[in-house]
Amino acid sequence: LLHSSSSRFAREDLDRTKDGYADVNWDELGFNVVQTDYMYVMRSPQDGKFTSGELNPYGEITLSPSSGVLNYGQGLFEGLKAYRKGDGNGFMLFRPEENALRMQKGAERMCMPSPSVEQFVHAVKQTVVANKRWVPPPGKGSLYIRPLLMGSGPVLGLAPSPEYTFLVVAVPVGRYFKYCSGTLNLLISDEYHRATPGGTGGIKTISNYGPVLKAQVQAKSKGFADVLFLDSVNKKYLEEAASCNIFIVKGNIISTPATYGTILPGITRKSIIEIARDQGYQVEEKLVSMDEVIDADEIFCTGTAVVLTPVDTITYCGQRFQYNTGIQTVSHRLYNTLAAIQMGNVEDTRGWRLEI
Ligand code: COI
Repeated sequence: LLHSSSSRFAREDLDRTKDGYADVNWDELGFNVVQTDYMYVMRSPQDGKFTSGELNPYGEITLSPSSGVLNYGQGLFEGLKAYRKGDGNGFMLFRPEENALRMQKGAERMCMPSPSVEQFVHAVKQTVVANKRWVPPPGKGSLYIRPLLMGSGPVLGLAPSPEYTFLVVAVPVGRYFKYCSGTLNLLISDEYHRATPGGTGGIKTISNYGPVLKAQVQAKSKGFADVLFLDSVNKKYLEEAASCNIFIVKGNIISTPATYGTILPGITRKSIIEIARDQGYQVEEKLVSMDEVIDADEIFCTGTAVVLTPVDTITYCGQRFQYNTGIQTVSHRLYNTLAAIQMGNVEDTRGWRLEI
């Protein structure tokens, strides 16, 4: 069984967070672990249905050494962000129901029960409110929310875990990528692949992320911000980066790899497709060949953590290809529209913001 090792959540602790901000240098935020005040915990009983959860002080958890997540990787995670409203009071979540639905799809694939959309969104809201002093001031960043679903009950033979735990933690974040001399450089892996047809590349299981570390660490040691993967069958179609989805721009046409099961269906990806179509671009979800990547005007990546980040260079088979970045680009225009919606600077005509 899993439980918080700290004492239970107390009302007076929540009141302590009512006013003001945590002691953080908001100008120096990156994407690093910061210990906040509370986490949300919900456990499934044996019948597999989640009923209700609670806020606990943020702290270490105990987990059976025989748990399904530790032994057989039966786990999923999500990522979403809360922004502080412009007047400093109140918060906005970006499309949290989409994360809940993606977790449900992943849970089905991983033979796990999942929280309902209502339970998921309730847990996220509670976590934000309890940690509100950690939500950065407007324009300084966001509160990154990390829901986790794991097989926490004991198993020995390979089988679904008898019990599950849903956890939500939150961390103030700024920019995700570390730039090398002001440019964002990606490396295409010629050795490793991220996903295979029939595998789990299309869901957000924890077991998609450990295996890409080798390629990512190698790329970072050579000054690249992240690694890009090609498909594992033909070894010539673009799939995604270790941490985010990818788009290419050529004239008025924007292309991104189609989600046939090996690509993570990103919520930022889906939002950018809709925004770009509304702005008159032709958006194609298809197989994107390396020839098209080489020939592109612009490349950008999308994800909750990276939002929309333009790519300066891509290195493939020892050759470096350079792309347009800056304020005259399609990427810049799309980023501005998305960021304005997420941060509450324009009217939300699509119903993407959930206010707290
Ligand atoms: C996110 O963008 O939220 C992700 O889950 C990617 C992760 C590697 C930071």
